[in-house]
Amino acid sequence: GVSWKLEDHPKLPKGKTVAVVVLDGWGEANPDKYNCIHVAETPTMDSLKKGAPEKWRLVKAHGKAVGLPTEDDMGNSEVGHNALGAGRIYAQGAKLVDFALASGKIYEGEGFKYIKECFDKGTLHLIGLLSDGGVHSRLDQLQLLLKGASENCAKRIRVHILTDGRDVLDGTSVGFVETLENDLLKLQEKGVDAQIASGGGRMYVTMDRYENDWGVVKRGWDAQVLGEAPHKFRSAVEAVKKLREDPNVNDQYLPPFVIVDESGKPVGPILDGDAVVTFNFRADRMVMIAKALEYEDFDKFDRVRVPKIHYAGMLQYDGELKLPKHYLVDPPEIERTSGEYLVHNGIRTFACSETVKFGHVTFFWNGNRSGYFDASMEEYVEIPSDAGITFNVQPKMKALEIAEKARDAILSRKFDQVRVNLPNGDMVGHTGDIEATVVACKAADEAVKMILDAIEQVGGIYVVTADHGNAEDMVKRNKSGQPALDKNGNIQVLTSHTLQPVPIAIGGPGLMHGVRFRSDVPDGGLANVAATVMNLHAFIAPSDYEPTLIEVVDN
Ligand code: 3PG
Ligand code: CO
Repeated sequence: GVSWKLEDHPKLPKGKTVAVVVLDGWGEANPDKYNCIHVAETPTMDSLKKGAPEKWRLVKAHGKAVGLPTEDDMGNSEVGHNALGAGRIYAQGAKLVDFALASGKIYEGEGFKYIKECFDKGTLHLIGLLSDGGVHSRLDQLQLLLKGASENCAKRIRVHILTDGRDVLDGTSVGFVETLENDLLKLQEKGVDAQIASGGGRMYVTMDRYENDWGVVKRGWDAQVLGEAPHKFRSAVEAVKKLREDPNVNDQYLPPFVIVDESGKPVGPILDGDAVVTFNFRADRMVMIAKALEYEDFDKFDRVRVPKIHYAGMLQYDGELKLPKHYLVDPPEIERTSGEYLVHNGIRTFACSETVKFGHVTFFWNGNRSGYFDASMEEYVEIPSDAGITFNVQPKMKALEIAEKARDAILSRKFDQVRVNLPNGDMVGHTGDIEATVVACKAADEAVKMILDAIEQVGGIYVVTADHGNAEDMVKRNKSGQPALDKNGNIQVLTSHTLQPVPIAIGGPGLMHGVRFRSDVPDGGLANVAATVMNLHAFIAPSDYEPTLIEVVDN
């Protein structure tokens, strides 16, 4: 068994309340007008940066530092919070799927064999996000899977696409659909009956998360399983182009559509005896559809018809719930997270965010694990997010409410660690609405202030950091860092995350004199934060954790 006992830190005192604040989508970039954090009034975050140089620094939040395949991979909340909580760098879903596909191991696993049992008589359905964003899925992985499935005798394939525009530029859906249709055409030439069967925008169809809005999943169910949608087209390229003509529609919010044959019949509803694979590797936005596809008892919406299928996820999305039961690639086995250690060592923990980010500071933080380690030591509070809106219309989101909960938790002195995620920079940044993102950053800064004030009152310590960049750069740039113009000479709004590093600041009246950031971890990343936080709770991190960012000098 694991020895959970942590060694005491030789110098740092016990018993300080530690606030851990994660600003979602808050990177560090050059100050210009597309840097919403720079444009916004953010006096609290500014003062942390200007305050004490040995108590503010940058850490890596993208690429290999967070277990992604390459340095061109932007950070994201899943890998960011995994690294923050786990204190070690794990090869993440994107990488694990790459390995499994490249080695062919994916086709030898139990999951694929289970799927394959349907290839004789049934259709193989592939459902997932169609882009090369690399956050939830990747087009090249889908392409390899299509090839591999057909080589493994899948005779009839239907792809149910979800258009992106959030991890990639808006409008790129058309190109991705063209590429996919072209691939499917080639499969058809080889005698495989392969087509796109349905589609919709990721934020409106299927990919909700943390049960914010089951209506999103229902719209997907209706199109994918029942073959019913408000829009019917003969081809997906036509569908995406036509639907995008509406100025209120973009890739993220494309309404659901089904592809029909010449007689108007949907070409690919999911039927008894079919196989279904959800090809996203990332968990949060697949858990809800996985439940709808897998659970016998299900009351979140009326499924109307529940086909008897063999269903597998690209990965298992929730290890605690064992959801789904079948999967093509083993997920990263993130164990012995800092949260679990700290609870075993008497650290009473409070965590809070609003719905759309709630699982980030709980589920992702705890290594993709649902629930409490020890309910008597922990309290997780979810503030309901507004559902059915794009957050540019409500850019303050629930930042204030989250901060109030954190403040109350700190002042109650019932907790040793109070951890929050402030979603604004990220969720509003993803809308591409620059003005609203400025308002969002200001709101997040105000929330930080409320939490730091509470820490001041109880003589505690704060750690303020972020999971990845977003709001600090809202424009696509060329290699020299200038805005890259499109063919009409316009800037291209960046809705996605960035490759930027993120700040981390420590302080508060409880921080012992002489604590400062070390200078010998220049490449420190998010995974170094866990050991740092353990130190602030007066413990030394396990030896396999990434090194702490802080040291104590005598003065
Ligand atoms: C999303 O799922 O909203 C985006 O693809 C990534 O955003 P997140 O990593 O900040 O959640
Ligand atoms: Co994001």
